Amino acid sequence: MVSVEGQAVKVKVDKGKNTSSILYKGQTIQNIAVGGYIKIKKGFSEMIGKIEGEFITEEKDFSKSPYKSTKDKINRILNIKILGFLERGVFQRGVRELPLLDNNCFLLQKEEFDEIHNFVGADDEPIEVGTLEYDDGQKIELGVNSLFASHIGIFGNTGSGKSYTLTKIYRELFKKFKNNLTFTENAKFFIIDFNGEYSGANTIVPNKKIYNLTTRKAISQINASDKIPFSENDLTDLELICIMADATEKTQRPFISRALKYYKKVEATHDSLEYFKNILHQRIRATLKMSNKDKAYTLIDYLSIIVNNDDNKNLIESIEWNNKNQHFMPRGGTSKELTNEEIENTELFQAVSNYTFPIDVLSKVIHFLYIQLIYDVYNDKAQNDHIAPAVNKLKSKKDDIRKVLNTEGSQPLFPYGQNLVVVNLNDVNLEIKKTLPLLLSKKLYAEQKVTFGQQRNKSLNLIIDEAHNILSKESFREAESWKDYRLETFEEIIKEGRKFGTFLTISSQRPSDISPTIISQLHNYFLHRLINNNDLLAVEKTIAYLDKVSADSIPNLSTGTCIIAGLLAQIPVVMKVNKITQKENQPISQTINLLEKWSKEKQK
Ligand SMILES: Nc1ncnc2c1ncn2[C@@H]1O[C@H](COP(=O)(O)OP(=O)(O)OP(=O)(O)O)[C@@H](O)[C@H]1O
Ligand SMILES: [Mg+2]
Repeated sequence: MVSVEGQAVKVKVDKGKNTSSILYKGQTIQNIAVGGYIKIKKGFSEMIGKIEGEFITEEKDFSKSPYKSTKDKINRILNIKILGFLERGVFQRGVRELPLLDNNCFLLQKEEFDEIHNFVGADDEPIEVGTLEYDDGQKIELGVNSLFASHIGIFGNTGSGKSYTLTKIYRELFKKFKNNLTFTENAKFFIIDFNGEYSGANTIVPNKKIYNLTTRKAISQINASDKIPFSENDLTDLELICIMADATEKTQRPFISRALKYYKKVEATHDSLEYFKNILHQRIRATLKMSNKDKAYTLIDYLSIIVNNDDNKNLIESIEWNNKNQHFMPRGGTSKELTNEEIENTELFQAVSNYTFPIDVLSKVIHFLYIQLIYDVYNDKAQNDHIAPAVNKLKSKKDDIRKVLNTEGSQPLFPYGQNLVVVNLNDVNLEIKKTLPLLLSKKLYAEQKVTFGQQRNKSLNLIIDEAHNILSKESFREAESWKDYRLETFEEIIKEGRKFGTFLTISSQRPSDISPTIISQLHNYFLHRLINNNDLLAVEKTIAYLDKVSADSIPNLSTGTCIIAGLLAQIPVVMKVNKITQKENQPISQTINLLEKWSKEKQK
């Protein structure tokens, strides 16, 4: 020991032991080198340190002893960082005490080396996922509980092996618990698959439910079983409607809340259709007596949308605006205001008798949004300009939402006997790609909170590959407040999810783009090759227990090799992820082989 400065310790190597390998108990073992480990003995306690660097110094008074060999002139000094200690043969992370200058250092014995690489707790079950990249290629097992009861982050540049790693760990889990009914019943796994990589029939495992969503086909050509089952109650949820309507303006949310309350109130009446028609009549009466031209015409537009069911027919041909006295009057007639009879004779008023509620819930909700908007604007409770964009947004998204959500049946999201669901978003448009994952995450998390309150053995793992699609900090296309709202949802799951048995697995090419609050609160990390400096900073800054040797190696990791760091690995290690033997079980993400493609084309 030469110096001790906190956890950083400098150690001098015995001059007789400066060879690259040494003999110990009849076996050659590797001598210490950067990246390796040493044990420091202080009395009865044994500390474990990682070698982060080395340098040499020369002996100054060397000339005074002419009998020594020049080899002895050199002092080899190691920079060590203390990682933890051995307590009754068990490795513990952290620093409880620091070494003294005259303490001696030792190479680790095989059992000690194995012990610090043992990532499976005494009461946990192992899955084998890879091998140590350096040292002796020893297999790496991870504890099922410490891995899957945690938030996991998988980061790396494109093609570095993230999707493969994700598939590998979940495949091993499903292999282990195959035919285990308690597992199938209590643990739910939900994959949001932006590019259709997990939607292969046998990817991960064959026994799963895949929702192959599409917005490209006509609604009549889409199978109900390919849509996500959603109950009417789910759809009339305030949060969900706000998400779908992009309602972030301060006034939009309360407005939607009022409209949905009204919806539920009318639904609860004895004859809700009659009730609604009466309201329409009332609104038409009030509107046609208004003295504000712009407002009146806006409200007539809205009323027409409802009673016409979106058809663009003019329903007020029999009346016109009297500019002089500012009110409606019969077309080409007197300047008098409309009588009750004249109002009742308008096509608009008459058309109400043929009105029926739309069959799909969303269209119905939109009618209630309009009736609320008419009421609010009439009574100056809301400004049309503030609210209308949200209603229009919902309206414009309605058809696409109907293509991906099925509100008609009552099938469960997780079919009986299946606890792995994949939502394939490869074939949906950008709007749905952005809103649906949030909508589903919110719904699943809300339900999980309730379920967990009743049965604490139920868990939910929400798995999002290509998470930058929805979690990125910088997206210029959308409003600031909406972005915050979206991030909050996931930040809440990250912060509170554990208490409700909800765990997030996210994978991304650009960790620097994802909110630091999310990155820093993940429990376990699989770090693949990252080259961009901002990405490297993002992971180094937030992962406190990443040592320098590991951090420095991230840009040079080969495909399929990653650093495991976090709560489950007492020390960060470089792991080569094991192969998924059958191609059909791999994610559909193979880097295309151009030569192969071209030669095939040629043959045609
Ligand atoms: N452990 C591994 N063993 C063998 N092949 C691997 C391994 N990991 C990845 N590969 C191969 O490397 C290629 C890229 O892997 P993968 O699709 O997982 O990368 P990715 O990081 O998810 O990329 P992207 O960000 O573009 O989605 C694939 O062809 C995959 O089969
Ligand atoms: Mg991928």
